[in-house]
Amino acid sequence: MNFPDFEKLVKQRRSIRYYSDKPVSKDDVLKLLEVAHLSPSVENAQPWHFHVIFNQDMKRKLMSACCYGNFVDAAGVFIVVSCDHSHEFSMPEVVWNPKELEFSCMAAMMHVILGATAMGLGSCWVSLHHGQVHEFMKLPREHTVVGGVMLGHFKAGEEKSGEHFERKPLSGLVTVYD
Ligand SMILES: Cc1cc2nc3c(=O)[nH]c(=O)nc-3n(C[C@H](O)[C@H](O)[C@H](O)COP(=O)(O)O)c2cc1C
Repeated sequence: MNFPDFEKLVKQRRSIRYYSDKPVSKDDVLKLLEVAHLSPSVENAQPWHFHVIFNQDMKRKLMSACCYGNFVDAAGVFIVVSCDHSHEFSMPEVVWNPKELEFSCMAAMMHVILGATAMGLGSCWVSLHHGQVHEFMKLPREHTVVGGVMLGHFKAGEEKSGEHFERKPLSGLVTVYD
């Protein structure tokens, strides 16, 4: 893929919160998780765990643990990403940012989101009340909840548009040191 193709892909993506009833295939989800698994991670720790929720009852129950996600039950699939903190850093002299492992999971979530865009699926990152989700999903103690990604087919009228980006001027967000 050349840069214009990548730029087009990035511009196609936007957060989609309402979907059609068409199911998302398990094969497509697996392909997305395979590309997510190629994400960079601190010390190549690969600390992600993907909890792939097709189950309608679970999606509905998880809605109360979403910060803003009272639409999650309509997604074809909801992927909760947890971070396994059991990685032992091999360079003890380095003062790692304590969130490095979670940053790695976020990189993987972006691969899922961009991969979904490339497949023609809608997606949206959903913030989660981590304690509630941890308890509901009965996660091991060494896992923290990073967030969720909803995926689904576009509902009629929710198709891609390139006109949605409201962004602060980039010039105010960049400092260049020559
Ligand atoms: C870390 C993070 C958390 C987010 N949490 C939520 C959320 O809880 N609910 C939601 O509807 N959107 C959530 N979003 C999506 C943002 O609202 C969205 O990316 C932003 O408004 C820009 O719109 P766009 O994605 O369409 O470009 C989140 C995005 C990120 C990166």
